[in-house]
Amino acid sequence: MALMNPKDMFVAAYDGRYAIGAFNVNNMEIVQGIMEAASEEKSPVILQVSAGARKYAGQTYLMKLVEAALAEDPSVPVAVHLDHGATFELCRDCIDGGFTSVMIDGSHLPFEENIALTRQVVEYAHPRGVWVEAELGKLAGVEEHVQNADHVYTDPKEAVEFVERSGCDSLAVAIGTSHGAYKFKGEAKLDFDRLEAIGKLLPNYPLVLHGASSVPQEFVELCNKYGGNVAGAKGVPEDMLRKAAGMSVCKINVDTDIRLAVTASIRQHMVEHPEDFDPRAYLKPARAAVKAMVAHKIRNVMGSSGKA
Ligand code: G3H
Ligand code: 13P
Ligand code: ZN
Repeated sequence: MALMNPKDMFVAAYDGRYAIGAFNVNNMEIVQGIMEAASEEKSPVILQVSAGARKYAGQTYLMKLVEAALAEDPSVPVAVHLDHGATFELCRDCIDGGFTSVMIDGSHLPFEENIALTRQVVEYAHPRGVWVEAELGKLAGVEEHVQNADHVYTDPKEAVEFVERSGCDSLAVAIGTSHGAYKFKGEAKLDFDRLEAIGKLLPNYPLVLHGASSVPQEFVELCNKYGGNVAGAKGVPEDMLRKAAGMSVCKINVDTDIRLAVTASIRQHMVEHPEDFDPRAYLKPARAAVKAMVAHKIRNVMGSSGKA
């Protein structure tokens, strides 16, 4: 199977009340870990590339890695997606480079400007067969190009107007998640009433949940035990993600958990095997840690096992 536009994945996910995992990729081991998990779980998957990943690894390298992974198991349905595209030009370059999906993130802009920018990307993407995700509302925390002090939750009526006027294919909504490893100071809380209200006003329309890492405490503990300092890290409980996947959320974004899996594994290896200096010695278990974590997510959080 070639790289695909995620439309069919989302139609099936919406109807089947599960979500597609969208995992951020930055290097070969991460691509391999995710793809091996998707292959074993027989699950569709979205590999997403941020502007930072593009700068770090290079767009062509990442695309070639994805192609190589697909050659290993052509039965896995895969979409390659630009995560948090800040400008029309960046979206255009990714579309021209073979991405099957892009996110234009105008969430920091005033409503009308967000619509206009999203519309511009839609008009370039759709004739080329590319899916467009947009965002309305603001997640607290650091996004690549913008720092938000507070959440601005998505207004359900505005969401309808935004989708109608911008023509975007899926919409990222703000309901209380945030990017990174420190999502909640106290109890974790998401605004499911708001999610339900948006879903009711936009029937059969796929919503996207950003900032959806669960920050597994086993990785946090390993990082801290082996010399790290990620004290107080807290993510979205997995049962809440499952609940969202059973509603209108068809795409769940995970990056932080991959970072934690890689770092916990490497820290442990470095301390337990101080004699090792061959990068393969610690990148191999790091890749296995990504694979195990992603397989768990696909099976127990996304609910997409066996849907390939
Ligand atoms: O939403 C942000 C993603 O975690 C990407 O992070 O821009 O550091 O690659 P990055
Ligand atoms: P996390 O930081 O929770 O992994 O969120 C990732 C994300 O939303 C990428 O767009
Ligand atoms: Zn995000």
